[in-house]
Amino acid sequence: MKKWFQNQRWKNRQLRHQFRMMAIRLGLVTRGMNTGMGESAWLLHGLVRSLKPETCVEIGSAQGWSTCHIGLALRENFQGQLYAVDPHLPTAWNDVGAVDSLPILTRNLRRFGLEKCVSIIRATSEEAARDWDRPIDFLLIDGDHSYEGVKKDWTLFSPHLSPFGVAVFHDTTWDLHGANRPDMGVPRFVEELRRAGHPVITIDRDCGLSMVQKIPGGVPLSATF
Ligand SMILES: C[S@@+](CC[C@H](N)C(=O)[O-])C[C@H]1O[C@@H](n2cnc3c(N)ncnc32)[C@H](O)[C@@H]1O
Repeated sequence: MKKWFQNQRWKNRQLRHQFRMMAIRLGLVTRGMNTGMGESAWLLHGLVRSLKPETCVEIGSAQGWSTCHIGLALRENFQGQLYAVDPHLPTAWNDVGAVDSLPILTRNLRRFGLEKCVSIIRATSEEAARDWDRPIDFLLIDGDHSYEGVKKDWTLFSPHLSPFGVAVFHDTTWDLHGANRPDMGVPRFVEELRRAGHPVITIDRDCGLSMVQKIPGGVPLSATF
């Protein structure tokens, strides 16, 4: 009998948790944010649900669209932390109307109950990388989109990526669609990684999201060859 009650209590807790998570999903779907990532943010959510990362780093949070999707997945996982790095200052890469984005990011995280899963780091990626010494399981690079900027972010953070860790770059298919922005360097840099043998899988939606792993050729999956 005692076991039956314990079981029932556990099921009720699970049910309450699932309803809370559904409410957050609904909030994200209906509210939307000023961002170019659109529904592709659910790719980040799915990756984090599957990877069960301990440590995630996001370079470029703005108002928190990607931040909330990653944060929700961490809350659903009951583990892991996202370090959300952004100076929240005018740069060449702010979304329209999203320059002083810190108060909006903070409000969005609070609205969706994700503050505990996300540590906001108000800094450039370069500043944040200075004292960084933890392995990273999931990395989103969506900050400075110039060639030099995106290369710097990879150079600073990829040494910390775990072998099966995944880095996601946003805005990787601009060149394929003839988008005209001369300072956009993400497609060129990710193409360099692909040619250097890094596993790259690209989703051609919402300006392109590419998933990259750090070991050229990929992690060996069998010792029998
Ligand atoms: C396109 S927005 C990010 C969008 C966000 N990931 C989303 O899902 O809505 C680019 C952001 O990168 C930030 N940024 C620009 N240079 C940066 C740098 N050096 N380090 C960290 N963030 C940077 C900008 O402040 C801006 O908020």
